[in-house]
Amino acid sequence: MSEADPSAGISKAVYGLLAVGSVAADGTKDVMTANWGTQVSFEPRLYSIAVQSDSHTASNIKATGVFSINFMPGGTHDLALKLTAHSTSGEGRLEGQESSVHETGAPVLGVAVGWVECKVVDSSQPGDHTVFFGEVVGGDVGPSSGEATTLAGVDLSYAG
Ligand SMILES: Cc1cc2nc3c(=O)[nH]c(=O)nc-3n(C[C@H](O)[C@H](O)[C@H](O)COP(=O)(O)O)c2cc1C
Repeated sequence: MSEADPSAGISKAVYGLLAVGSVAADGTKDVMTANWGTQVSFEPRLYSIAVQSDSHTASNIKATGVFSINFMPGGTHDLALKLTAHSTSGEGRLEGQESSVHETGAPVLGVAVGWVECKVVDSSQPGDHTVFFGEVVGGDVGPSSGEATTLAGVDLSYAG
């Protein structure tokens, strides 16, 4: 009998492709590819995201207490990889990307087919990622039309 493999089990999970927008204390905006995010409450409406604790994005969210979640469409494999490149300045990843800001200042990508923006109400660091819980203070469909993709739909994975 083969040994049980939790990592292989987790590989069957279905994720959406997200881009997490954040803003530094000096106002510099950034955006990072992610998939470990989900709604966790109706009332209040809360969205959570798990972010590598030593990442630029985590320090931005800790500094300003806000983030955005961009729901990405298909055909964005290359953009997702660009938004994965480790960012030190924060400027590089948004360069050439159409984006807008709303209530929180966290960027919403023009290519997104839906978005929410959140103010952090709690966080926890049980492992190597920090889980931020954000109250949803804004959001809509768009700016682009179409459906959101899954991670498998853009041939990427981040789980195990
Ligand atoms: C498909 C994919 C999904 C990812 N999902 C997450 C995630 O949910 N959380 C996370 O912290 N990093 C995730 N990453 C890694 C980050 O995008 C990457 O490490 C990023 O450069 C770190 O951010 P920083 O530049 O803000 O330090 C993912 C990477 C890929 C390719």
